[in-house]
Amino acid sequence: MTKNDRSAKLIIGNDTYELDIINPTEGPDVIDIRKLYNEANIFTYDPGYTSTASCDSRITFIDGFKGKLLHRGYPIDQLAANSHFLEVCYLLIDAKLPTEAELESFQETITAHTMLHEQMVNFFRGFRRDAHPMAIMVGVVGAMSAFYHDSTDVTDPRQRKIASHRLIAKMPTIAAWAYKYSIGQPFIYPRNDLNYAANFLHMCFAVPAEDYHVNPILSRAMDRIFILHADHEQNASTSTVRLASSSGANPFACIAAGIACLWGPSHGGANQACLEMLKQIGSVDRIPEYIKRAKDKNDPFRLMGFGHRVYKNLDPRAKVMKQSADEVLELLGVKNNPLLQIAAELEKIALQDSYFVEKKLFPNVDFYSGIILEAMGFPKSMFTPIFALSRTAGWISQWKEMIADPQNKIGRPRQLYLGETDRDYVPIENR
Ligand code: CMC
Repeated sequence: MTKNDRSAKLIIGNDTYELDIINPTEGPDVIDIRKLYNEANIFTYDPGYTSTASCDSRITFIDGFKGKLLHRGYPIDQLAANSHFLEVCYLLIDAKLPTEAELESFQETITAHTMLHEQMVNFFRGFRRDAHPMAIMVGVVGAMSAFYHDSTDVTDPRQRKIASHRLIAKMPTIAAWAYKYSIGQPFIYPRNDLNYAANFLHMCFAVPAEDYHVNPILSRAMDRIFILHADHEQNASTSTVRLASSSGANPFACIAAGIACLWGPSHGGANQACLEMLKQIGSVDRIPEYIKRAKDKNDPFRLMGFGHRVYKNLDPRAKVMKQSADEVLELLGVKNNPLLQIAAELEKIALQDSYFVEKKLFPNVDFYSGIILEAMGFPKSMFTPIFALSRTAGWISQWKEMIADPQNKIGRPRQLYLGETDRDYVPIENR
C-alpha cells in the first residue's frame, strides 16, 4: 500500500486531524480513516457504503464512468472472447493466467470433484417440489459444511484450497439438481468427459430415457454467461461473503450467505425480474406507459436491468450479453423473439429519455441475460441460480484473498444511533 504525498485534513471545531491518503493502482484515491474514532471519537456515516472502501483488493477493478471492468488487469470483453470459465476461475483465484500444464491440472481437479456426497440427495428430497431453486441452493450449500469436514478449517491453507475446488466443482451439480427436483425429473449425474458449461447443460436437460447432445454453440454461450458473472468486486453478495467469513465461519456457510444475498431483486434476482417485466410490458406500444411509471416517484416500479451503483455508463458485460443474445436466438431460430424486440426498443427509448440520461441509468448485465437463458430452455427461476454458480468463482477468490490478508479483522460497522436514550422500564399495568 503506498501513501499519497498529499494528506486530508479534517477540522472539527478547534481540532484538526490529518488523515493519510492511499494511492490505488487504478481508481480514486482513498482517505484512510482507520484511526479516526480512536483519535477524534467520531464515526463516519455512509449507509450502503457509497463512499467507503471496505477492504483493499487486487482481483477486480471497475471504472463505472468509463464502463471498464478488469479481472486481474484483463478486460472482460477480452476474457469473454478468448478465455473460458475455468481459466477465468484460475485467473481470479491465482492472480495469473495459467500455463497449459497448470490449466490442465486445475481442470482435472475441478472435474474430480463434480459429484455430490450421495446422502445429499436426501436434502433435495426434503424440499417442497415448488421450492425456488435459490432456496434449495442456500440450504444445500450451507449443508456442505455437514458433509465435508476435512475442508472447513479456515486456518489450514490446504483445507481452504480443497473447499474452493469443491465449491466451484459442485455448484453446477447443485444448481442443476435444484432444477431437476423442481420439475420432477431424475437427477442427472455429472459427466466428466464434458467441459464445465456442457456438463451443466447436460445435467439440466438430459433425461435417462434418451441421448442428449449438447450443442457446442449453446455451451459456449453458457460459458460466456458464466464468465460475465464471475466477479464484480465488492458488490452486496461478495461483501456478505467477506463479512460472514470475517468471523472465521467455514467457507460453505459463507458462500451460502452470499447466495442468500444474491437472491434479492436489486442484485442477482434482477435477471428474473427483468424478464418478468418484459413479459408484463408485452408489446412495444406499451413501453411509454412503463417508462412513465419508472419515472414516477410515487410508483415503486423500476426498469429492471437498468441502473447500477457503480456503472454510470454502459455496463461492459451488457454489450457482450447482447451480442450473445443475438447469436443464441439466431441459432435457435427465434430471431424475431418479441421479448428481444421489446428489450431493444425499451433500451433505445430509455437511452434517449432525459430522466435516464441525467441519472446515468444504462442497461446492466441482467437486461439481456434472461432472454438468452429463456431461449436456451431455462425457466425464470433458474436465472439467479446460474448467476450464483458463476459468482462462486468471485466469492471464492475474494474469500481467499481476505483470509490471507494480515489486516483481516472481524467486520463490525458502527451506527448512527437515533433511538431513545435511557428511560425506566414501565410495568405492563401502567402502559
Ligand atoms: N428505474 C428507474 N429509476 C431508477 C432505476 C431504475 N432501474 N435505478 C435507479 N433509478 C433512480 C432512482 O429512483 C434514483 O432516483 P432519485 O435520485 O431521483 O431518487 C436514482 O436513479 C439513483 O438510484 P438509487 O436507487 O439511489 O441507486 P443505487 O445505486 O442505490 O441502486 C440499483 C442501484 C442497481 C439497485 C438500481 O439502479 C436498481 O434498482 N436497478 C434495477 C434493478 C437491477 O437491474 N439490478 C441489477 C444490478 S446489476 C447486477 C448485479 O450487480 O447484481
